[in-house]
Amino acid sequence: MSISNPKIPPTILVIIGITGDLAKRKLLPALTILAAHHVLPNNFQVIGISRNATSVKQLIINLPAQGNSSKSIKEWLDKHISMFQMDLTQLAEYERLADHLKSVSKTFSEPTQVLFYLSVPPQVSQPIVEYLGQAGLAKQKSTKLLLEKPFGTDLISARDFIEHLNKYFSETQIYRIDHYLAKEMAQNLIVFRNENSLFKRTWNNTFIEKIELSLLESIGIESRVNFYEQTGALRDVVQGHLLQLTALTLMDLPTHGNWQSVPACRMQALQQLSITTSEENIYEVIRGQYQGYRQEVSNNQSSTETFVALKLHSIDPNWLGVPIILTTGKALNETKSEITIHYRKTHEDESDRLILRIQPNEGIEVQLWSKRPGYDRELEKVDMSFAYKENRHELADAYERVLIDAIHSDHSLFTSSDEVEASWQILQPLQNIWEMSDGSDIILYKSGSRPENIVNSSDWPQLYV
Ligand code: BG6
Repeated sequence: MSISNPKIPPTILVIIGITGDLAKRKLLPALTILAAHHVLPNNFQVIGISRNATSVKQLIINLPAQGNSSKSIKEWLDKHISMFQMDLTQLAEYERLADHLKSVSKTFSEPTQVLFYLSVPPQVSQPIVEYLGQAGLAKQKSTKLLLEKPFGTDLISARDFIEHLNKYFSETQIYRIDHYLAKEMAQNLIVFRNENSLFKRTWNNTFIEKIELSLLESIGIESRVNFYEQTGALRDVVQGHLLQLTALTLMDLPTHGNWQSVPACRMQALQQLSITTSEENIYEVIRGQYQGYRQEVSNNQSSTETFVALKLHSIDPNWLGVPIILTTGKALNETKSEITIHYRKTHEDESDRLILRIQPNEGIEVQLWSKRPGYDRELEKVDMSFAYKENRHELADAYERVLIDAIHSDHSLFTSSDEVEASWQILQPLQNIWEMSDGSDIILYKSGSRPENIVNSSDWPQLYV
């Protein structure tokens, strides 16, 4: 990884919830990789907050194995992490934390920036923010707050949470993480659109007929029973990841190199989107639930969706008339996230597809017809494709990017409060309908189903035409 390294102040990263799954699977491994690439500030310290007494040694033992460099990784972690045990429900404890941070900062000779990473369930984020604010921990302009989704559960709660955050933290201090924006191919989308004239000039409704964005998973909800039962696929994946990818696909490009204006560009794209309705004024949406889900969450009545496919349209003149289809689901036949651009055809058999593979096998693929070599005039379909791994590129994990960008105060891959509002605004009418519904529209599908089979078993087969 090469990253410009302007002078970064000494940094303390406070991870609230360091013993949790995210820290173990993503944050700590990402930090060790950043350290190995020498891109962290010279003076850097992680303070891990936990409720129970946990030692750094215990944390390290629980980390996933990381190949043969693990000895140096362990040494790095041991040197750079210290633990702070506290009760997160007591204001006095935050005051004690403030004193502790002051004394750690003093060991660095320059002013220090403090990053609070809330790696905790959504329902506890709000009180933690309140305590941080009351304890005076948000006062320094250089203090940053990193938050994981979900950012609310609907438009009203999202607005409330934004207001609550703004009581203590200014928008420039807040870094809302959508790790999909930090995936290599998502970032590459802007470069791809900007730097390739063939695609740049044809990126509009004159040439493009339809856009599909999908985030498909073969896994079920695993152990996240409570979280998922309260959340569902629309909130878990569509509101953030898929709408953010949609915004990156449709947005006007920022002026050359101006990455800081990317959130504003995404926000404008989001503000022009809504869910398409049929002539009968019914939302073009399908929801499903995999068989066995209700037993998993011990709720026979559950109407939480594990699959959603929906059609959007944009009022941006560049995109008028182009259906945008989002699909996500768990317990499907495969795991893949991609954006498929369907170009208009002048005859039925023409090839028309550009596929941007977000994961796995990150890359770009154009399907072409070609003459099969030989004496006759047979055609064959071939792929013109680029895959990062064939170019021996090592891809950074999204959390490496998230951490380093927050340290560098780069907001371009983080979601602004306006974007959060704009995306809930798109979904709110549907949420209202689902809230009133008896759930009879939910399609129960077998684990391992193909998305098109789920969609085609509903009344809305036109969604996938
Ligand atoms: C998370 C969702 O934000 O993204 C999960 O909560 C989902 O339900 C995950 O599995 C997908 O992310 P990735 O990076 O594994 O594709």
